Amino acid sequence: MIKEQFLKDIGTELQNLKEQGLYKSEYQITTSQSCDIEIFLGNEKKRVLNFCANNYLGLANDKKLIAAAKKSLDDYGLGTASVRFICGTFDLHKTFEKKLAEFLHFEDVITFSSCFAANGGVFSALLDENDAIISADLNHASLIDGIRLCKASRYFYKFDGMAELERKLQEAQKHKNRLIATDGVFSMDGDIAKLKEICDLAEKYDAMLLLDDSHATGFIGENGRGTLELCAVEGRIDILTSTLGKALGGAGGGFIASKKEIIEKLRNKARPYLFSNNILPMVAATGIVILDMISKSKNLIKNSVDNTSYFRKKMLEAGFNLRDKNAIHPVVPVMLGDAVLAGKFAKMMIEEEGIYVVAFSFPVVPKNEARIRVQISAAHTKEQLDQAIAAFIKVGKKLEVI
Ligand SMILES: Cc1ncc(COP(=O)(O)O)c(C=O)c1O
Repeated sequence: MIKEQFLKDIGTELQNLKEQGLYKSEYQITTSQSCDIEIFLGNEKKRVLNFCANNYLGLANDKKLIAAAKKSLDDYGLGTASVRFICGTFDLHKTFEKKLAEFLHFEDVITFSSCFAANGGVFSALLDENDAIISADLNHASLIDGIRLCKASRYFYKFDGMAELERKLQEAQKHKNRLIATDGVFSMDGDIAKLKEICDLAEKYDAMLLLDDSHATGFIGENGRGTLELCAVEGRIDILTSTLGKALGGAGGGFIASKKEIIEKLRNKARPYLFSNNILPMVAATGIVILDMISKSKNLIKNSVDNTSYFRKKMLEAGFNLRDKNAIHPVVPVMLGDAVLAGKFAKMMIEEEGIYVVAFSFPVVPKNEARIRVQISAAHTKEQLDQAIAAFIKVGKKLEVI
């Protein structure tokens, strides 16, 4: 039985979060995910422009993909009602994995219900107490949790501190196997990992390298193969993990790409694969079409690049602090510092200006580094970008941020 005091303590904790501006609330969306959506504001519905989804390529409500999803429902039903090795692998899963491996230039791919699940299972499946993981400090929570579940020794380095990484690699030489783990894009800031230097160090110290490219697969790099393409380190990344829940459709799902022996071992040892259902047939079906779309035309990737540079340029001209004025990623952090101010800014943007943006504060970002994280999509029109910029300027002036 739950004790009354236990619930009272939770109430106090939640109230504290509210008072510190750290409480996370959710707006309900009543339309499909896109750049122009309808949400509930109290009991009223309101049309807003969406600048906070990870819908990088704008595919979340693409008509061609919805048709492919509907067809997969007719052909395969809702799902497998099983984990993959028992009775839950459709030919569609295998076709998608093969196609994804080809697209990314890896030997093989294994899918998971999410990238969180992939990251949760990969370390403990491959490493043990004789090994070491050297992890970037700003890595995504799923990498952090996956590493915690593994018996390997842990070392940490500042995500861009290459001298520190080298020292940690030297310290870790005593372990049988060493694996560096890093995000490709650090999603709160839009910073890109120094992959060239990290690969050089991995090779110098005989370490493997795992890259989580969730904020890059499908749209970063000339052909959308991610930060490994952008940083010209293809062929030097040993294990790639990523999500299907952002640029690649947005429905959900994750995967790991690597050498065939590693993927075979993961199919036999990764617990979130063995003990949990896999991606929906609909996700595999739409994934196949998305890979064709990205491979055949560079328009989506070009729109993402053009929209991002336009928005960043105009916001810098307006006087906003975007942390790194030379950054190129469609995650654009508008730095505000104070958590309460950031929360107020986002609320005014949504309620007064009809621009849906979200404030991020501690513990998601460091204390006193609260910000609004703007997400630019390839599908935003120039008018929508201009409307958002004008709203930022208006609210920024009202709150004396600029
Ligand atoms: C870097 C990174 N890795 C993993 C994930 C988890 O992805 P999924 O939603 O597929 O579990 C996210 C999602 O926010 C992410 O940003």
